[in-house]
Amino acid sequence: MSPAANGSNGSNGHGVAVPTPKPLDLVGKTAIVTGSARGIGAACALELGQRGANVVVNYTSAKSKGPADKIASQITSNGTGAKAITVQADVVANEGQQALVDAALSLSSSKSINILVHNAGHGDDCYLTDVTEDFYRIQTDINMKAPIFLTQKALPHMPRSSRIVLISSCSARMGVPQQTVYAASKAATEAFARVWATELGQSRGITVNCVNPGPVATDMYYASSQEFLDELKPLVDSTPAEGRVGEVGDVAPIVGFLCSEESRWVTGSTVSANGGLLFH
Ligand SMILES: NC(=O)c1ccc[n+]([C@@H]2O[C@H](COP(=O)([O-])OP(=O)(O)OC[C@H]3O[C@@H](n4cnc5c(N)ncnc54)[C@H](OP(=O)(O)O)[C@@H]3O)[C@@H](O)[C@H]2O)c1
Repeated sequence: MSPAANGSNGSNGHGVAVPTPKPLDLVGKTAIVTGSARGIGAACALELGQRGANVVVNYTSAKSKGPADKIASQITSNGTGAKAITVQADVVANEGQQALVDAALSLSSSKSINILVHNAGHGDDCYLTDVTEDFYRIQTDINMKAPIFLTQKALPHMPRSSRIVLISSCSARMGVPQQTVYAASKAATEAFARVWATELGQSRGITVNCVNPGPVATDMYYASSQEFLDELKPLVDSTPAEGRVGEVGDVAPIVGFLCSEESRWVTGSTVSANGGLLFH
């Protein structure tokens, strides 16, 4: 995890990270961040916790228990009074979704869920000719089905001014080879944001937005084949903001903003967190 994931995304000009003060604008709010033991989700959980929110830290694999516990303890010791709980749950399963909702309600003194960040995702690469029904199902279950049915379960507990954020990918729009299923499932999250912004806006006072990262230095990115990473390199080098892979600390503060009161007039948007890659 980059230093930025710990809220140290500034520099003193000598290459030494310095803490960036966060606004304490989420004190009293309760958040669920799916897939938050590592990668982008962990950085989002820490960001929301640093802004004072109580956070449900979710993971699914046994090996992520230790990292999840560490994220939760960083949140509970960050000095804001934020609470955190870890939940091992598969976001695709009904009982997993219910466990996340129940955990959030147990953290919230008002029995409310104010923030839902759909971060858990799966992204394998495969040429069109090799896609199998299992490959299709695994990715679409996590990237599309889980956000729909977890949102359904959380909604009855989400008061006005609540926030939903989905994590898309620049792949949704770029035509990257081997991403038939991943790209389509991520494009779906951008569609969810637009449809749900309308359905949940005036009636429920909830904003719904998508954040669109480019390549980010996480386990998911480095799990790609060398062939895929080599194909991607010219694109990474051409990133308008800087010719590099993104860090989780480039993404989490955008999610933090979209969870804040100040983002009240932003809904149905897909916000770039990709250094401008989508201009290509
Ligand atoms: N990294 C990139 O280059 C990049 C670029 C654009 C968009 N994104 C998107 O950003 C999000 C996070 O990606 P990342 O790179 O941080 O991924 P990552 O490092 O691979 O982490 C994925 C997280 O999702 C969790 N997860 C997977 N399946 C789950 C399930 N069924 N139930 C609950 N949790 C589950 C994992 O839990 P465990 O820890 O228990 O395994 C893990 O915490 C994804 O939606 C991804 O599509 C990533």
